[in-house]
Amino acid sequence: MSHSLGNGGHMFRKIDRQRTLENLAEPEVDAIRAKLIERRENASLSYLEARESREVTRAFPVEITVPTGDRCNIHCTFCTDRSSRSTSKYSDLSYSKFLEVITYLRPCLDVTSSIALYSWGEPLMNPAYGQMYDEIINTQYGAKIYISTNGILLDDQWAHKLVAYECSVVNVSLNAAVPETHRSLTRSPGFHAIINNLKYLIGLKKQVGCVGPFVSLSFVMVAENILELPNFIDLAAEIGVNVVVVSNLMQLEPKHIYQRIDSKNAEVIKAFQNAQWIAEERGVPLVEFSPTPFSMRQEPGICFEPWYAFKISSNGDVFPCCYCNDVMGNIWKHSFLDIWNGQGYQYYRATVNSPCPPSSCSVCFRKKKYQEEKE
Ligand SMILES: C[S@@+](CC[C@H](N)C(=O)[O-])C[C@H]1O[C@@H](n2cnc3c(N)ncnc32)[C@H](O)[C@@H]1O
Ligand code: SF4
Ligand code: SF4
Repeated sequence: MSHSLGNGGHMFRKIDRQRTLENLAEPEVDAIRAKLIERRENASLSYLEARESREVTRAFPVEITVPTGDRCNIHCTFCTDRSSRSTSKYSDLSYSKFLEVITYLRPCLDVTSSIALYSWGEPLMNPAYGQMYDEIINTQYGAKIYISTNGILLDDQWAHKLVAYECSVVNVSLNAAVPETHRSLTRSPGFHAIINNLKYLIGLKKQVGCVGPFVSLSFVMVAENILELPNFIDLAAEIGVNVVVVSNLMQLEPKHIYQRIDSKNAEVIKAFQNAQWIAEERGVPLVEFSPTPFSMRQEPGICFEPWYAFKISSNGDVFPCCYCNDVMGNIWKHSFLDIWNGQGYQYYRATVNSPCPPSSCSVCFRKKKYQEEKE
């Protein structure tokens, strides 16, 4: 039976956690334990193989991105071109196609540590996304399930689903501290709706008394929003998210060059420092998705992505990370092992940490310090 409970202005329906250990029978708990051990062993082996720079690996990927389609309901100016003339480039992945991907990945999904369930689009927009989520959450015990959304469709039904069947991490890409900047960056009036959705989710978590999902709020740094980063941290603290993640702008379209922050500008540096200070004061960790120009000096410039990550885009192309343009293979044409230990991955593993990394790496934020040292 479900009923409503008042809480901080929100009305929550009472929910039962579906998968707490006490709700499971002993054999299911044993199965989860066995899966956890397998996943941990794979991650340990992968780490050792990466440390030894092995070009052919026995470990399977530690992080897998499973595609869900790339349509979106908003047009972020820093994302891939989403103007009306480009709309036809994007589509939802059907549930049947998704199941084919799952079948293809089955052996490695069972041992991987982390599954990102979204593509270069808005996952919650795909009518089949709920089914996709259920399939992963019900079969992949012990894996960290990661989703990223712009938050507009993260309504109370989704909040209940995420809390009841514990999703590990939900990232909400907000990118602005005030509605005006949000509207200007996303061409959407959804700022307040997103904040309300986040507050509902976090309130529900508290009401149920569970730690998951871990909620992160992300911020792609561009010229238009960088000075409001300190206010963004304040907002994140007020909402009660677990972490703020800042990202460097990837130049996906030629016009993005005009959106880059000037990291040598005194006001910009001060904004970043203030944000760090407020984050510490208010107890909201500020994490960098990849080393920012403000912290790059401490980074050794080593990259293990080609040993860890298997990122499948909506058309089936596979990449070893978010920053690389080189396709390692396509799941509709090549077997998993032909890609994972194929020429592309081997080349990346052989060269990524060498003095002559692949060209994508030479402009990558993870390699910046390395490049500087070379100069
Ligand atoms: C492409 S989106 C897909 C998921 C969902 N639509 C969202 O916005 O979270 C994944 C992440 O990439 C980020 N992103 C988009 N364009 C970017 C760019 N040019 N540079 C860096 N990050 C970017 C988004 O802010 C988001 O956090
Ligand atoms: S919401 Fe995500 S996919 Fe959509 S335009 Fe923005 S960054 Fe791109
Ligand atoms: S582009 Fe190269 S250095 Fe950057 S994350 Fe990818 S593999 Fe690593």
